[in-house]
Amino acid sequence: MIASNVMETPTHTDFVIVGAGIAGLRAAIGLSDAGRVLVITKEQLGESNTSYAQGGIAVAMGGEEDVSLHLEDTRNAGDGLVNREAAKVLVEEGPLRVDELLQWGTGFDRHDGKLMLTREGAHSRNRILHANGDATGAEIGRSLLAHARALKNITLLEWTMCVDLLVRGDEVTGLTVLDKEDQLHTIHARAVLLASGGAGQVYSDTTNPAVATGDGIAMAYRAGAEISDMEFYQFHPTALSLPGVPRFLLSEALRGEGAYLRNAKGERFMERYHPLLELAPRDVVARAITREGMGTDGETLPVHLDMRHVQGLDLHQRFPGISAFLAQHGLDLSRDLIPVRPAAHYLMGGVKTDVDGRASLKRLYAAGEAACTGVHGANRLASNSLLEGLVFGARAADVMREETAASANPVKTLDQQQSSTRGSSSLLQQLQQAMWQNAGLLRDAAGLRAARSELKQICAQLPSGADRSSLELRNLHAIGELIVQSALAREESRGAHYRNDFPHREDARFQKHSVLSKDEATVRFIAD
Ligand code: SIN
Repeated sequence: MIASNVMETPTHTDFVIVGAGIAGLRAAIGLSDAGRVLVITKEQLGESNTSYAQGGIAVAMGGEEDVSLHLEDTRNAGDGLVNREAAKVLVEEGPLRVDELLQWGTGFDRHDGKLMLTREGAHSRNRILHANGDATGAEIGRSLLAHARALKNITLLEWTMCVDLLVRGDEVTGLTVLDKEDQLHTIHARAVLLASGGAGQVYSDTTNPAVATGDGIAMAYRAGAEISDMEFYQFHPTALSLPGVPRFLLSEALRGEGAYLRNAKGERFMERYHPLLELAPRDVVARAITREGMGTDGETLPVHLDMRHVQGLDLHQRFPGISAFLAQHGLDLSRDLIPVRPAAHYLMGGVKTDVDGRASLKRLYAAGEAACTGVHGANRLASNSLLEGLVFGARAADVMREETAASANPVKTLDQQQSSTRGSSSLLQQLQQAMWQNAGLLRDAAGLRAARSELKQICAQLPSGADRSSLELRNLHAIGELIVQSALAREESRGAHYRNDFPHREDARFQKHSVLSKDEATVRFIAD
């Protein structure tokens, strides 16, 4: 049976899933025989961080030793803050979830019939599956969507933005949404899963698409849910750095296949920063590139990715998407030095959940990048995020069906209101610049306080309208505040959070997760 895309917003359903990336679609599949599932996405299906994931999906398909090495690598990259239970779940259930993908027709790349495996930073062995060379997320998204469409009960609602959760006491009962005509609607549900992805748009430089505005996290915060580890934003080391060109992701798999990094003098420099050189953990490489790019007079020096020496690999065939994008700008991996610099890529923090996706409010769940199980600690291991979406999306679906028995739905209501003010794009740019300059890769108290006061000024000018750009701006503002507050409170350096004024790890005080909620004035730190 083919699921239809609804033309009208329903007033009631059993399960609402916010987001149609890997976590949302996998959860929808898991819930499809438990009731009506409404998957809501802000733009057309396929427009999510999942679709832009290039390098691959890390998974230990080689038995017990492989699984325990994957666990060790995940914990090492996370710099002392990985939640062990969550990481065990990830690596142990990963192979089963990837087997399902294979059964559902995901076309991972093969050589002589065998799955091809590559390596990325901080992995001790080759364990990363990829698809169509450098389009892994898009292929996984395609196959999940095809599978979801074939299941009864799943309705996919495009061009609809989720606005706020409906809360009664400490229980979530549904949410309000904005349709593409800027009309507000209320949807009642047995449970809501936030699988709305990340918030890269809070920074001026990001690999994330325009839809990544942290909506789910901001909504959960406003509703009173606990939010955790927001100071940990991962900056991908190698986004394309050309004036006037978006910060296009240049996959870590390029370095996995032998790319070097060179500074303005043409020197390889990673040996000064880490024994794993170009395949060091992402936070180390990103900071090294930033430092090499700082000229003595405050000017920015170029840093390049170099694959000209790589032999025995057809770079255009292995990286077709990257090659095509570079060709539009007159660059060729096998011939040219490619200018790079870091860009905001992945939020390790998010809605605080347990390993089954339960948030701190009843009937609210989160999975994927919007959630924080602690699985990535302070720095995510490359290519663990697609696996995270699959594993924790599936687990959330399991508990949602068990825990949220059909409730007597409240009286049907359909609230429709006209929207008003438009958001201001200059305010958005001001916010993104303030975050990039003062709450980015290298932080200190003075910069973070400057970011905080700029956010305060911006707050006074935030538009109050219920149109998409105003809502997104308000959500990004909330995300910015959560990042800055948590970053100020963590007076140490760990993983992706680096403080120039506290350059060392302080395990005694901070080997803990930060937690914030609307009802608490200060950041709390808690152990696993
Ligand atoms: C990449 O291809 O470098 C991105 C993969 C990831 O973020 O894990």
